[in-house]
Amino acid sequence: MREVKTFFVRTYGCQMNEYDSQILAGILSKTEKYEIIDQPDGADFILINTCSVRENAETTIYNRLNHLKQYKKTKSNLVVGIIGCMAERMRKDIFTKSELVKIVIGPDEYRSAPEILQNSMAGNSGIAVRLSRVETYEDIEPLRKEGISAWLAIMRGCNHFCSYCVVPYTRGRERSRSINSILKEIELLQDEGFKEVTLLGQNVNSYFDLQNKTNFPKLLRKVAETGSTMRIRYVTSHPLDMSDELIETMNEFDNICNYIHLPFQSGSNRILNLMNRGYTREHYLERIKKIKSSLNEFSLSTDIIAGFPTETEDDHKQTLDLMRQVRFDGAFMFKYSPREGTKAYKMNDDVAEEIKIHRLNEIIELQNIISKENNKNEIGKTYEVLVEKPSKKKAHEWMGRTKLNKVVIFDNSNDKYTTGDLVNVLIKRSNSATLFAEVVE
Ligand code: 5AD
Ligand code: SF4
Repeated sequence: MREVKTFFVRTYGCQMNEYDSQILAGILSKTEKYEIIDQPDGADFILINTCSVRENAETTIYNRLNHLKQYKKTKSNLVVGIIGCMAERMRKDIFTKSELVKIVIGPDEYRSAPEILQNSMAGNSGIAVRLSRVETYEDIEPLRKEGISAWLAIMRGCNHFCSYCVVPYTRGRERSRSINSILKEIELLQDEGFKEVTLLGQNVNSYFDLQNKTNFPKLLRKVAETGSTMRIRYVTSHPLDMSDELIETMNEFDNICNYIHLPFQSGSNRILNLMNRGYTREHYLERIKKIKSSLNEFSLSTDIIAGFPTETEDDHKQTLDLMRQVRFDGAFMFKYSPREGTKAYKMNDDVAEEIKIHRLNEIIELQNIISKENNKNEIGKTYEVLVEKPSKKKAHEWMGRTKLNKVVIFDNSNDKYTTGDLVNVLIKRSNSATLFAEVVE
């Protein structure tokens, strides 16, 4: 009998990374030579899928690798691999810098994983980091975790080249999966009992199936029809590509969640120009106006960068002002950090660290106030919640999400409701992150 080897994948970073780990696990499991386990103890392979978008490549990766040394002590033939975005950045440098790592696989090379793992057992290091213009893994079934929510990548890569961002270099050019393969997978997910699917892409709005002349709004419509019993979500959008057609399509289907993540990055036109974002503050606000006037209910979130090169106090104030105008429900807020190989890397990173931190804190504080106020306005409203799991704090309390992606905690003392149920709740209390509710029958 052939011996089956075990592997463990640790994922850091964005949802796309989580999804890619499931793709890799799908590829390895299909060979029947490798079996996934859910903890690193005793694994023959530990694979780390780590993010290079914002994290400081060198330091984080070495901290993480140091952590793994303990497993090598108890299992001397353990093989460690770096996969994904960071693998693409570090390439063979990592072999000389860490004796633990024997495998490096970039995001477009997961198909070569079975062979590389096999060879590594004989002591050979293996590296595969070519980027592809066509790879979409559309024939691969990801090894998803059990649950009610699934991710599905509809496109990969990005052509936008924002000046601060490594994604076009680590994930390559934009390419879309065929609509037929996506719809087939949606059917499968629905049959398997998934209740929610999130369509993923670095910029889903520029999805285009060339053969079938299908753009993102048309795809979304078909997905909503095919997966009619599931909630449909998507991330991430780019303000340039957020079309009227898309906003109107969202309005047509009840099961498309009107939660829109629309990164604006900076409220200053001068900085937006240096960031190569391709739009102005006025364009962004006009898109928000369109969303607000077209959708009855909606929820908006965004990404913001503080302290981009040359950012002045006035530029920063314009960011705060834009936040006040839009009143986002949530935001991912970052301090600018230079990424090697990007255009902005050549600019002087001239905003002092303490100023960056100060501005970031102002942004975070303002967002907290707005989130708190927005959530206060939810008190007294009724929502349908998709039940997820027991809350972390109290066993009898469970959490779920509204269609607008707000987290709701409610009493489930008699275990009346379980994962995947839809319940109506009345919001009684709230804070900046959470709504507290009572179930209404
Ligand atoms: N520095 C800070 N934030 C960054 N992001 C991407 N690159 C950088 C960088 N070099 C942020 C952007 C993007 C999100 C995914 O990460 O806000 O929207
Ligand atoms: Fe990066 Fe800009 Fe592409 Fe987003 S749109 S992935 S920030 S290059």
